[in-house]
Amino acid sequence: MPREWTTATRNPHATPARQPGRRTVPVIRVQALADTIIELTLQDAHTARTARPGQFVMLYTHDQSRLMPRPFGVAGTNGDTFTIIFAIVGEGTRQFSTLREGDTIDMLGPLGGQAFNLDQPGDYLLVGGGLGIPPLLYAAQRLAAKPDTRTTAILGYRDTRYADTRMQTHTPHTHSITNAQGDVLTLLNTLEPNPNPDQPLTILTCGPKPMMQAVHQWAQTHNANCQTCMEQRMGCGYGACVACTIPTIHGNTKTCTEGPVFPSTTIIW
Ligand SMILES: Cc1cc2nc3c(=O)[nH]c(=O)nc-3n(C[C@H](O)[C@H](O)[C@H](O)COP(=O)(O)OP(=O)(O)OC[C@H]3O[C@@H](n4cnc5c(N)ncnc54)[C@H](O)[C@@H]3O)c2cc1C
Ligand code: FES
Repeated sequence: MPREWTTATRNPHATPARQPGRRTVPVIRVQALADTIIELTLQDAHTARTARPGQFVMLYTHDQSRLMPRPFGVAGTNGDTFTIIFAIVGEGTRQFSTLREGDTIDMLGPLGGQAFNLDQPGDYLLVGGGLGIPPLLYAAQRLAAKPDTRTTAILGYRDTRYADTRMQTHTPHTHSITNAQGDVLTLLNTLEPNPNPDQPLTILTCGPKPMMQAVHQWAQTHNANCQTCMEQRMGCGYGACVACTIPTIHGNTKTCTEGPVFPSTTIIW
């Protein structure tokens, strides 16, 4: 693994050209948010200072036979610490779930050439599904610091509403639904997410692809700008392995260096 590398700089929001390489950082806090969902707080001043919402870090297991690191969206920052929230779905996340305060973990990042663009004033609608919600928590944290924006969050869960409390610390306009009740489209169609039609509406979405496609279509019919965070499976996380390509109107595109955030109109759904 290189200690330093140059990332894509084709867009104005790209990662700075030089980044620290793989490094070992302390685990500050471990908290279970639900049965199989864990929030990890890690100490890394570089990530806490420079990560933009939608960017991700790669975490390495201590198991040397499992060479590929695992990507996780930054869910929030505080001082020189940052959080990630993950579900235990396989061996890598099972190993991360055994971490305890005082342990260390190897990481890389923050990575991702294109983050959510929060420059536009006006109304923001954050639509998240399942484990796509963590990057939106960080977007909501950043938006809460911008006086010219108003944020509404619409969150869809399989069952446990693991992120509602955290989202409510950033916006009081938080609505959620579980699979038994419906989906995020159910909420989008019953709420009035853009109470000021004169204000521009920006939608940020992250979650399962069919959900994001439906949100993209909803945005098209509501004249809203929509940015999608594509959590494609990854290998390296910085452009070397092509494991993460997706079809876009510009051809096959690497999610890690050209994304993970894309205008929804550029994705070939
Ligand atoms: C940019 C990015 C950000 C992510 N952010 C988060 C996050 O904030 N929280 C979180 O819980 N997860 C997130 N993920 C997914 C996370 O990386 C995977 O769940 C993790 O790598 C699984 O590792 P594992 O070794 O436990 O499971 P594996 O043994 O590798 O896989 C277990 C199961 O999970 C599925 N899986 C693995 N990765 C993905 C993926 N990317 N999308 C869909 N299914 C997958 C596999 O197909 C398999 O069925 C993100 C992925 C990307 C690319
Ligand atoms: S994950 Fe290796 S090129 Fe994107």
